[in-house]
Amino acid sequence: MSQCPYHTTTAGAPIADNQNSLTAGPRGPVLMQDWQLLEKLAHQNRERIPERVVHAKGWGAYGTFTVTQDISRYTRARLFSEVGKQTPVITRFSTVAGELGAADAERDVRGFAVKFYTEEGNWDLVGNNTPVFFIRDPLKFPDFIHTQKRHPRTHLRSPTAMWDFWSLSPESLHQVTILMSDRGLPTDIRHMNGYGSHTFSFWNDDGERFWVKFHFKTQQGHQHWTNEEAANIVGQTRESTQEDLFGSIEKGQYPKWTLHVQVMPEADAETTPYNPFDLTKVWPHSDYPLIEVGELTLNRNPDNYFAEIEQLAMSPSNVVPGIGFSPDKVLQARLFSYADAHRYRLGTHYEALPVNQPKCPVHHYHMDGQMNFMGHQSGQSDAYYEPNSFNGAVARPDVAEPPLALSGDADRYDHREGNDDFSQPRALWQLFSDEQKTRLYRNIAAAMAGVPDDIIERQIGLFDQIDPAYGQGVRTALTQA
Ligand code: NDP
Ligand code: HEM
Repeated sequence: MSQCPYHTTTAGAPIADNQNSLTAGPRGPVLMQDWQLLEKLAHQNRERIPERVVHAKGWGAYGTFTVTQDISRYTRARLFSEVGKQTPVITRFSTVAGELGAADAERDVRGFAVKFYTEEGNWDLVGNNTPVFFIRDPLKFPDFIHTQKRHPRTHLRSPTAMWDFWSLSPESLHQVTILMSDRGLPTDIRHMNGYGSHTFSFWNDDGERFWVKFHFKTQQGHQHWTNEEAANIVGQTRESTQEDLFGSIEKGQYPKWTLHVQVMPEADAETTPYNPFDLTKVWPHSDYPLIEVGELTLNRNPDNYFAEIEQLAMSPSNVVPGIGFSPDKVLQARLFSYADAHRYRLGTHYEALPVNQPKCPVHHYHMDGQMNFMGHQSGQSDAYYEPNSFNGAVARPDVAEPPLALSGDADRYDHREGNDDFSQPRALWQLFSDEQKTRLYRNIAAAMAGVPDDIIERQIGLFDQIDPAYGQGVRTALTQA
C-alpha cells in the first residue's frame, strides 16, 4: 500500500489530531479554540447547493463521440470534420419532476444531455428521450413545471393539476401519449433514445444554412417497465438507474448510441405543411430521412459525483461555429434560462469549474466576481477591456453565422391557431400494437386517479380527436382502474 498523505488544514498546516476535540478535561466542555472543529461544522453546513429546479435527479458519465459518416457538406463544425474523429464528452441523464432523492424508476421524461468538449469550444446538446415536448410557447413553461412539482398546500404531486393543464393545452397530446406509453418508463438510460428535440441549424464553409434535428438511437435496444414492475423495483431500490449505468461502465459494458441527423434545406421551412420550428412536432422520416453521423460511447464513471455531475452546467446556448439555433420559441427561451440557472445554482464563474471548462483556450473580458481563481482571461494582463492596444483577444469574423432573414409584425400570436395537434399523436398511436395500446390506456387511467370528472372528460375529448378508439380505450380502462 502506498504511504498515505498527511492531513492538513485548508491552509496547508499539518493537523495533529482529527479524532478528539480540544476540551477542558476529558469530559469537556469543548474549547472555542478548537477552530478546526468549528471549521468542520461550518463546511458541512455549506455542503449542499440548490438542486436543479427541474431535472434534479440525474446520472452521468464520460465518453467519446466518434464520427462515422462525413457530414461536412452541411456543417463547418470541426468536431464533424472527418470520419474517425473523436471528441471527448460528458453526459447527464435525468428525470424531470422528482427531487434529488427521487426514486429512479418513475414514469417521467428522461433528460439526455451531452457536453462535447470540441476544439472550438463546448457544444451542449441538452435534449430528452422524447422527440417532442409538452408546450410550444415558452411562456407556459413555469406553469407547466408547477403542475409537475408539489402542490403548495398538500405538498404532494397533484394529478388534478397535471390533467387540468394538459386538458387545457392540446399541444401537449403528442408528448403525453409518449409519456403514458411504454417508452415513458425506460428501465434505465442505456435502453432509450435521445433527441435534441428542437430544430437547430447547421451552416457549411460556403455559408449555406440547413435546419437540423438530432437523434441518438440506442444500440442496446429499447427496454421499459410496466407500472407494476416499476413499483416492485422501487420497493427494492430507489437507485436502479444509477446502479445500472455505474455498474455497466465499471464492468466494461460501455453503452452506445448512434447519432443521426435529419437535415432540411433552409428554404424548405417555408413550404412544409407543418411548422418545422414547432417543438410539439417531429419531421416525418419519409420527408427527412435519418442520416448517420457517428457513435456515442460512455466509458468512464466520474470520480466525484458532486464535482463532476452536480456541478455540471449544460446550456443549449453553448454551440460552436457551424451549429446554430432556429426560430423555435421554446429554444429561444432556453438560450437565456440555463446560464441564468447556473449563476444562481453554481455561481458567477461556473464555466471555469473543471468539469465545465472547455478543453481549448478561453479568452474573454469578464472580470472579478466571487471565486475568480482564473486571473486574466483576455490573453494579456494589460488588456482588460476592448478595444485595446495591448494584444488582447480579438473577434474572429471568419466564424460569423450567415445572416438569417426575419420578418413579421411584433405581436403575441395565438400559437394554437391553425395548428394540428392531432395528426402526429395519431401516427404514433397507430404504431402501437394492441398490447401497447392497452398499457397506454391503463397508464393514463392510473395517472388520473382522484382527478375531477370534468377534467377527465375534457382530456378524453382530446383523445377522441386523435381517434375515438383512443378515447374509448381510456374510458374503459377508467372503469377497471
Ligand atoms: P416512422 O415509422 O418513420 O418512425 C417511427 C418512429 O417512432 C421511429 O423513430 C421509432 O423509433 C419510433 N417509435 C416506434 N415505436 C415507438 C413507441 N412505442 N413509442 C415511441 N416511439 C416509437 O414514422 P414517422 O417519422 O412518420 O413518425 C410517426 C410517429 O412516430 C410520429 O408522429 C412520432 O410520434 C413518432 N416518432 C417520430 C420520430 C421522427 O423523428 N420522425 C422520432 C420518434 C418518434 P425507434 O426507431 O427508436 O424504434
Ligand atoms: C434542465 C429550463 C425546456 C431539457 C433545466 C434547468 C432549467 C431549465 C432552468 C435547470 C438547469 C440547471 O440548474 O442546471 C427550461 C426552460 C424550458 C425547458 C425554461 C422551456 C421554456 C426543456 C426542453 C428540454 C429540456 C424542451 C429537452 C428537449 C433539459 C435537461 C435538463 C434541463 C436535459 C437537465 C440538464 C442537466 O442534466 O444538467 N431546464 N427547460 N428542457 N432541461 Fe430544460
